[in-house]
Amino acid sequence: MTSIFVTGGSGFIGSAFVPRAVAAGYTVRVLTRSEKSRARIQAVGAVPVSGDVLQSGDWQGEAAQADFVVHLAQPEAFGARVTLKRAQNYREQRLRMDELLFSSLNPVTVRRIIYVAGTSYYGDQGSALVNEATRPNPKGFGPFIAPAIERLSIYLEQGLPIVEAYPGWVYGAGSWFLEYNLAPLKARKKVPRLTGPIKMASPVHVEDVGRALLHLLEKGTVAKRYFIVDDQPVRVNRLPELAAQALGVPLRFRTVPEFISKLILGPIVTESLTTEFRLSNARLKETGFEFEFPTVEKGIPEVVAHWLKKR
Ligand SMILES: NC(=O)c1ccc[n+]([C@@H]2O[C@H](COP(=O)([O-])OP(=O)(O)OC[C@H]3O[C@@H](n4cnc5c(N)ncnc54)[C@H](OP(=O)(O)O)[C@@H]3O)[C@@H](O)[C@H]2O)c1
Repeated sequence: MTSIFVTGGSGFIGSAFVPRAVAAGYTVRVLTRSEKSRARIQAVGAVPVSGDVLQSGDWQGEAAQADFVVHLAQPEAFGARVTLKRAQNYREQRLRMDELLFSSLNPVTVRRIIYVAGTSYYGDQGSALVNEATRPNPKGFGPFIAPAIERLSIYLEQGLPIVEAYPGWVYGAGSWFLEYNLAPLKARKKVPRLTGPIKMASPVHVEDVGRALLHLLEKGTVAKRYFIVDDQPVRVNRLPELAAQALGVPLRFRTVPEFISKLILGPIVTESLTTEFRLSNARLKETGFEFEFPTVEKGIPEVVAHWLKKR
């Protein structure tokens, strides 16, 4: 049976990818660090493999035997103030994770490796709709993931068949969209938004990210990058507007000055929030991928309905 080895399978995107890969008939082995993650992985029909991607271990033997690898693990990046020191740790840990994973793989037997990066690497590109060939201008976390992305060329030269995936602002019933939009709205609290001009973002439904990663395993071209984003960028306010409508609650904003955001979230996350992202999904669509939720108008009501049902 064809097998996939997944790192970060217990995370936000991983939770959309792993059950889908199991349902598609793959044997899915997921690297896990905790009992809680193990149980969740088993519950969706995947096989947990104990290990820490920051430390050598038996897990590397399991990774070496996989037909496909999906690398989603990232050092903790969300949930606390991101200081420069924390971002620098993120950068170093990300390099180490890649090194330990990639050094365990056999270029002759592994068929595809999906490397999940982030669009902050492309950064601010002004008002044009940009594609993967655009020269990156890393912003926010971008400068801290750039060394890992730039090192991929070395692994490619070693023969590893890497396909790069760049999801945009991933929304779903978890992560930042739950914390800053769904939860405050449901509690009838104000939704935070930064002062200043309203920016554009390229969002994408987490389930479409899971589907796109599965699609790229077979259809992605080695050494190519793919943006995973909706058909059109939207004003960032559009997301809470649609969430409030779907929840049937009024939308009220609490405007946060940039300097307060820098104090609470840190300068790096604040820079991400003040960056314009207008990205094209044309290359992904050329591979034959079809979005289930090509717009936030389609996706957000589904996220809200799903979240209310499982609460
Ligand atoms: N979420 C977004 O909006 C977004 C947007 C664009 C790109 N991305 C990229 O997509 C990838 C996945 O993002 P996500 O939001 O799903 O991340 P996430 O929810 O933060 O999950 C991170 C995952 O990495 C695992 N992990 C962390 N350190 C590990 C270690 N030392 N050993 C083994 N596993 C470890 C975690 O496992 P535990 O369960 O054990 O903690 C968890 O499964 C990341 O590379 C991120 O940069 C995310």
